[in-house]
Amino acid sequence: MKDFVAGLPKCELHLHIEGTLEPELKFELAARNGLELPYSSVAEMRAAYTFDSLPSFLTIYYESMRVLRTEPDFYDLAMAYLRRAAEQNVRYAEIFFDPQAHTSRGVPFDVVIRGLRRALMDAETQLGVRAQLIMCFLRDFQAEYAMATLLESLPYKEWIVGVGLDSDEKGNPPAKFAAVYERARQEGYLLTMHCDVDQDDAIEHIRQAVEDIGVNRIDHGVNILEDQRLVETVLARGMGLTCCPVSNGFVTGSLKAEGIRKLMDLGVRVTISSDDPAYFAAYVQENLLALHDALQLSREELAQLQRNAFEIAWLPRHVKDAYVAEVDAYVAG
Ligand code: ADE
Ligand code: ZN
Repeated sequence: MKDFVAGLPKCELHLHIEGTLEPELKFELAARNGLELPYSSVAEMRAAYTFDSLPSFLTIYYESMRVLRTEPDFYDLAMAYLRRAAEQNVRYAEIFFDPQAHTSRGVPFDVVIRGLRRALMDAETQLGVRAQLIMCFLRDFQAEYAMATLLESLPYKEWIVGVGLDSDEKGNPPAKFAAVYERARQEGYLLTMHCDVDQDDAIEHIRQAVEDIGVNRIDHGVNILEDQRLVETVLARGMGLTCCPVSNGFVTGSLKAEGIRKLMDLGVRVTISSDDPAYFAAYVQENLLALHDALQLSREELAQLQRNAFEIAWLPRHVKDAYVAEVDAYVAG
């Protein structure tokens, strides 16, 4: 099964590029930028990754980003992920980035996006991995800052496929960003947002995302199982959920594998991704294997997870069809 999963053509839709910053690269970038890190070794840094909740993870996640300063830093960050992705036969990825985590510490938006964009272009030609960018707003910052970031992104609209919403969900419901999302839709961006697992008011947040904002898909969202009507809405719209089992394990203590299975059985377009693989020590392949360990998934089910992902990907129909055909050919072979 490990070999089957390794060779499966994959699509990753829930991946924070800042969450791919491995300790080795963190040290390299710190040295490049003349910064001290509060760890003496890679092992010591990894040993500090002891999160047990979303906020405890986010603290280290944001602290780590101060090594990212220049366009080449962002290029190297994205290229490192895309190389790992290519090794795992990820054929297509939609990559989140958090511009406010950088502009809030004085790194220009332009520096961030140019570095990422250049890596995406090189990965396509050099590695055969295609990728697009999704710009996330930090929900624990004010909606006005999100709106300003949206406006700042407009000159780069051709490089950004959609917008997302991440960071600490507590007290930061989707409704806070209704006007930002409305403007983003008018500008032609596709819409997703995090509805993290087992958060306060999880169901109300999912309801706002689906019914009030009208997102195209949901990141995480497993708690939707608590509301039959919302499940029916998502099924009727063919919406997808980008689930991240190993991340769930860190944030909630459970992979939420049974919930993921139930969603699959109901016919919801569930997909599996890695979220922040450098911090959770699992890229997409390890996430699929962790889920398989928990659920004894069949080959057909593992293939269906990839078909789901290509189906809900923000790509033209004929491109999706070609990727799904790759999955079908792999399973048949
Ligand atoms: N930012 C990076 N990873 C995240 C996650 N899993 N949830 C919310 N915000 C995030
Ligand atoms: Zn996430």
